[in-house]
Amino acid sequence: MRLLTKILRIFLILKTFLLPIYTKLPQDDFSFDSCSPPQLALNGSETEAGEVRIKKDFNHVREVKFSGSIGPLGEQRLCKIKCIAGQWVGPLCIDQQDNGRFQPLFRNCKLEYINPHLLVTFRNVSIHTPGWTFPHGAKLHTRCKELGLYKLLGTATPQCQNGQWSSRLPSCVPTTLLTNFTEDAPPSILIRIPSGSASAEPGGELAVFPGSTLHFECIFSRRLGSPDWTWTSPLGQYLTGWAIASEERDWKYRLSIYYAKPQDSGTFTCATPRGITNSITLVVTAVHCEPISVTRMHLSVRVEGTRLGHKAIFQCPMGFIVSGEANLTCQASGKWSAPVPKCDLVKCPPLDTPEKLGEPHLQVEEHNNSYGGRSVFSCAWGYKLLGPPGIECELSGNWSGPLPVCTPIQCPPPVLPLNGHLIQSEAPGMDGGRYAVGSLVQFACTGAHHLEGEASIICTETGFWSHPPPFCRPKCSYIGEPKNGFISPTKFAYDPGDELNIICNDGFSTNSNDSLICLSDGKWSSVLPACANISSLI
Ligand SMILES: *[C@@H]1O[C@H](CO)[C@@H](O)[C@H](O)[C@H]1NC(C)=O
Ligand SMILES: *[C@@H]1O[C@H](CO)[C@@H](O)[C@H](O)[C@H]1NC(C)=O
Ligand SMILES: *[C@@H]1O[C@H](CO)[C@@H](O)[C@H](O)[C@H]1NC(C)=O
Ligand SMILES: *[C@@H]1O[C@H](CO)[C@@H](O)[C@H](O)[C@H]1NC(C)=O
Ligand SMILES: *[C@@H]1O[C@H](CO)[C@@H](O)[C@H](O)[C@H]1NC(C)=O
Ligand SMILES: *[C@@H]1O[C@H](CO)[C@@H](O)[C@H](O)[C@H]1NC(C)=O
Ligand SMILES: *[C@@H]1O[C@H](CO)[C@@H](O)[C@H](O)[C@H]1NC(C)=O
Ligand SMILES: *[C@@H]1O[C@H](CO)[C@@H](O)[C@H](O)[C@H]1NC(C)=O
Repeated sequence: MRLLTKILRIFLILKTFLLPIYTKLPQDDFSFDSCSPPQLALNGSETEAGEVRIKKDFNHVREVKFSGSIGPLGEQRLCKIKCIAGQWVGPLCIDQQDNGRFQPLFRNCKLEYINPHLLVTFRNVSIHTPGWTFPHGAKLHTRCKELGLYKLLGTATPQCQNGQWSSRLPSCVPTTLLTNFTEDAPPSILIRIPSGSASAEPGGELAVFPGSTLHFECIFSRRLGSPDWTWTSPLGQYLTGWAIASEERDWKYRLSIYYAKPQDSGTFTCATPRGITNSITLVVTAVHCEPISVTRMHLSVRVEGTRLGHKAIFQCPMGFIVSGEANLTCQASGKWSAPVPKCDLVKCPPLDTPEKLGEPHLQVEEHNNSYGGRSVFSCAWGYKLLGPPGIECELSGNWSGPLPVCTPIQCPPPVLPLNGHLIQSEAPGMDGGRYAVGSLVQFACTGAHHLEGEASIICTETGFWSHPPPFCRPKCSYIGEPKNGFISPTKFAYDPGDELNIICNDGFSTNSNDSLICLSDGKWSSVLPACANISSLI
């Protein structure tokens, strides 16, 4: 199975579309060492569904044939794996270009990096992002995006050879216009097409429709000498020379082609006096592309025509974006440079799951991520929103602002009454002197002070305490009753200034003052006098 695992790496992009065909063994072949069920990858992923679909007894299966989809473009090929000495070997696939024989599938090549100025195409499909894998034999076409402004250095068509590119991907060297006319840079070539139409081809050629007029402007500082134009078209005679207009005459050395004909096809090279060159390869061909027909919803198109170099520019109405290439050019292959795009509704990134919110206390009240839609949020109990509660999905596909944030609701530390203190100094949920929602605190008063108000208060969802903190008032306590007498009024506590009268029973009397005053510090003006037998006083 070890070898098979290796082989299956190749299978990652090799997908089975058809039910595999199994070749069985003649019953009397005893020398056969059977293989375990192969891990065929269905449509690219090594699924269990694969095992389910291939739920067969593999004891007598010698060979499995299937239709493989190979490479990033999914080329369909008939492939097979063979059971040899208990191990699956393969895959072998039929290559039409090779007499239809089963051939081992060579290793793929990966495109690790794409120079930002490089345009890479594979079979006329442009490859924008690195990471693609290409089958053995695949040939990439490369050119620098800005034809004439960068010079391609390296091989323009690297090919995948059993896991290795035949050459490094080329690079794009900046030319004089980008290097401030330094003498060691290749000259820039500006392409102007006053009449006619042209297409920059994936292979780096400039393809033009016959009859077009072209100016190639070699950019070089006239102070440093004159560059030289040469061309490969044997019959061509072209006008070359410095531009006439005063603002151009010192840096544009021009070659003009009027009414281009197929015979003008060839390579046009501008060489500086130091022999540094840059070239444009011209192809003149009378190609037409299929007319573009737009039947897709919402999509509108402006088409210049169907001649080589003509453009089709697609648009979608407000609230939609063009999905695919918006600008197509008719290319020398007779094909448009990309498929007709479609209009997708503008959508903002969805925020309807906790993972996408990434904020544990945030809750979604309303969610509409279409253009113009709104999402509204709230916070879990004990938390409050910071920032506006709602955001809107904008035309750009971005939300109008960041997600709101939930912060815990906290009450400030309660104000301690004078002569009072907290019984629970540390309530649960207390954080840096602040209290979480639900925290309860209890007050007590010191000494001769009595609590007035609520003895316990709770931190509420509003961030305020349920009640104001209590007061600790100085009070005189109930002092007790004298023997043989009573006091008036009788209370648990007396306010400062209150008078307390001692009334003795008949035949008894206090031998001093018979009233006490509650003083401002909560103490009685004197001790409780006793009621004594009058006869004993005499
Ligand atoms: C594999 O892909 C084909 C075409 O895209 C599709 O019709 C088929 O349902 C897919 N099969 C599986 C198992 O995913
Ligand atoms: C080109 O020259 C201009 C002005 O002389 C300068 O600002 C700029 O940085 C130069 N650019 C390069 C690439 O040297
Ligand atoms: C497509 O063409 C339009 C009009 O010529 C132009 O404004 C736009 O920048 C082009 N877009 C791309 C991606 O080239
Ligand atoms: C790609 O374009 C070239 C011409 O530029 C053409 O010859 C070739 O057939 C095209 N290939 C595919 C796969 O369309
Ligand atoms: C979402 O918002 C858009 C724009 O306001 C509206 O047209 C659409 O009906 C909304 N979708 C839902 C499911 O409410
Ligand atoms: C949308 O958001 C992305 C990612 O944050 C940003 O790169 C882009 O510039 C934004 N687009 C607009 C139109 O604000
Ligand atoms: C008796 O009490 C009164 C107030 O009730 C006070 O004015 C007076 O001084 C007291 N007399 C004595 C002897 O304590
Ligand atoms: C008060 O004392 C006298 C003499 O000691 C006694 O006779 C009398 O009963 C006492 N009065 C009361 C109410 O106890």
